[in-house]
Parts: sequence; structure tokens; C-alpha cells
Amino acid sequence: MTFDLPYRPRRMRRTETLRAMVRETQLNASQLVYPMFIEEGISENTPISSMPGIFRHPEKTMDKAVKEAYAAGIRSILLFGVSHHKDETGSDSLKDDGLLARMIRRAKDACPDMNVISDNCFCEYTSHGHCGVLTADGHVHNDHTLENLAQQAYICARAGADIVAPSAMMDGQIAAIRERLDAEGFEHTPIMAYASKFASGLYGPFRAAAGCDLKGDRKTYQMDPANAREALIEAELDEAEGADILMVKPGMFYLDILARIRQQSNMPLAAYQVSGEYSMMCYAFEKGALDEKRVVMESMTSLRRAGADILITYFAPKVARWLAE
Ligand code: PBG
Ligand code: ZN
Repeated sequence: MTFDLPYRPRRMRRTETLRAMVRETQLNASQLVYPMFIEEGISENTPISSMPGIFRHPEKTMDKAVKEAYAAGIRSILLFGVSHHKDETGSDSLKDDGLLARMIRRAKDACPDMNVISDNCFCEYTSHGHCGVLTADGHVHNDHTLENLAQQAYICARAGADIVAPSAMMDGQIAAIRERLDAEGFEHTPIMAYASKFASGLYGPFRAAAGCDLKGDRKTYQMDPANAREALIEAELDEAEGADILMVKPGMFYLDILARIRQQSNMPLAAYQVSGEYSMMCYAFEKGALDEKRVVMESMTSLRRAGADILITYFAPKVARWLAE
């Protein structure tokens, strides 16, 4: 006579009904955030060559693009501006009538129920492409940039942003923004902190997409991909400064960071599957090397399993449609 072990997982793998019953990780369209590029001064949707299927949408017709995303099941978008008014400080983004504020208002007008998230940084609006104000010797000046970030976040909240998401990686940016928003009566506007944003080669396609011509690199303010403990400290600091959501970026190369922040913190956690992750998968699909739906869904599940509540991905409309099938 043989005895079964008390639990044999394979018994639960026999049918889809059984598998579904014990599935640990669920995916839902409400967890998706779709990043969108909005360009001023153009009249046609412009394909981004390094990101198959992704376009720069003209500011004038962005209503249509936002409504299409909503119809696909997307309920949160992250807006990136492609500016034709760049200068040393990125001053266009500090104005009520600048591109950043205008696109937030337009998105909210087009779809009042859409969560509109502003990416708060300066690299899309500065002529040098860095994420802040430069000093005479060419370094980003942390504290001057903080003042501008606080102003920019306030402009976004006033324009109707549901969440502000500072991505500049300046020290103290969450506290500076929280203080300013509270002082201006926006104490209910949440902050999604790009808590651990690594200096990654995977942002390459994005920089072309956002028309950001950076000379040099961001290694002095973004994180070293070799450091995991430092990411935990960054997340801890952002939480202490008043962040409402923590983010890890990129996503798939940094699942260990996601899992460890998930253990250390009870905050909502977001993963950003960035442009390079998107493009390399797309090119493999185009060549027939990988099955698109299967692999994209597996990547979403993996980010969720590692600990992400929120998934920021250029695949969002496709994923939402597949989930609705
Ligand atoms: C700008 C910003 C970047 C991304 C989001 N916000 C690029 C960078 O830091 O160089 C990258 C997103 C992507 O690659 O999809 N602060
Ligand atoms: Zn930036």
C-alpha cells in the first residue's frame, strides 16, 4: 500500500476550472496604465519608428486617441508631451497655458472618468534634455529643480491631473511636491513616485519617441542597475516623504526589486514596462519568434506575481481587449 503526500499540486492542474480556482495572480484592466505621447504643432498621428504600433498624437486630435483608449477598456493614462517650445529650464511646462497643462485639460475634457496621470519632469521641455535646471558646470541643480518640480506639479493638479508622477529623480522631490500641493489646496491629489528609477539602456526608444536629445547621461541622478539595497532605501524615503504609490522602473529586468519593495512596504506598487522592453518584444513578435498574446500576458502576470498592483505598459490597450474577450 502506498500513501499519497498530503498535497500534490498536480491534482489541481487537471482542468482549467481547477487551475482557475487556485490561481494566485489575477489580471484586471483597471490595473493598467497606458502611456501616451502628445505632440503640439502637428496634424497627423506620427508613428514612432522604434516603437511599433505607438504614435505621437497631435494635440489637436488627442481627444480621439484618449476616447479610443477608454473604449478599449483603459481607465488610466500617463501623458508625455512632445514640445516645440524647449528652453534651458523647461519653462513651457511651468505655465497654465503650456503643453503639459493643456494636454491634461484636454484629456479630462475628452474623458472625465479617465485617471489622468502627469509625468512630472523637465527632460521633455529642456533644450539640453536633462531632467532639471543645469548649473554653470553642466550638472543638474537638485534644489532649484525641486522648486520647479513643485510648481510644475501644482500646474498639473490645477489643470485637472488625478495623480502627479514625478520622474526626475531629484532628492526630496516627493516632500517638495507634497508640501506645495497641500499649500495650494490639492491635499487630495495623490503622488505616484518613480521611487526606484534605474539609469537603464531600455529607455532608448522612449527618448526618440519623446523627441528628447540628451547629451550625456543621467547616471548622477538615476540609479545604478547594480544596486538593489539602494532601491529599497529610495522607496523607503519616498514613502516617508508622503508618496501614495511607489514605482519600479524598468519592470522585467528588475523583478527582484519589485518583490523586495513589496515585502518591505504596504504601499500600492507600480511597475513600468518601459519602451525598450516593449520594443524588444514587438520585434520578436514581428519575426515570428514569440507568440504575442501569450508572451505579453505572461509578462503582465510576472510583474503582478513579483508584487506590482499597477502595470504601466505600452501594451495596455491590447491587454485590455484580450481581458475583455
Ligand atoms: C523622463 C522619462 C523617461 C521615461 C519616462 N519618463 C526617460 C528617461 O528617464 O530617460 C522612460 C519611459 C520608457 O522608456 O518607456 N524622465
Ligand atoms: Zn526626465
